[in-house]
Amino acid sequence: MKRTGKKNRRKILNLLILGWTGITTIPFLSTVLRYTSPPERRGPMTGAVATTGDVPPNTGKIVSLGNRPVLLITTPDGGQRAFLANCTHLGCVVRYREEENDIFCACHNSVFDIEGNNISGPAPRPLPQLPIEIDNDNIIVTVS
Ligand code: FES
Repeated sequence: MKRTGKKNRRKILNLLILGWTGITTIPFLSTVLRYTSPPERRGPMTGAVATTGDVPPNTGKIVSLGNRPVLLITTPDGGQRAFLANCTHLGCVVRYREEENDIFCACHNSVFDIEGNNISGPAPRPLPQLPIEIDNDNIIVTVS
């Protein structure tokens, strides 16, 4: 009789340990799998990201489309451009500099002209320029 009670306690204790291990391991494994698996590949994304009034001449604005930062620029003469805003060096978000009329990455001082060409600093490539369309004052950008 005494032995059976001890066995039952041991079984219950083993079940509790097994349950606790499962409860703590599943979220850990889920996190590891999410971190190690490649991000979901999406097709091109198009959307209205701002209005023309949001980006007056000689200004820039960072907006997002999906989870991608986009730099909108209206040049001093009113031309509009859109670029992926991640620097081609290590991915910092760039910004438009009104005084210099260029695009600047503060992380390591890369400079791009307003066509997105890398002109100084460690950035190895131009910024990817994005198709832009104006529809009823809405700025519509496509990110591929
Ligand atoms: S990340 Fe932009 S210059 Fe290094």
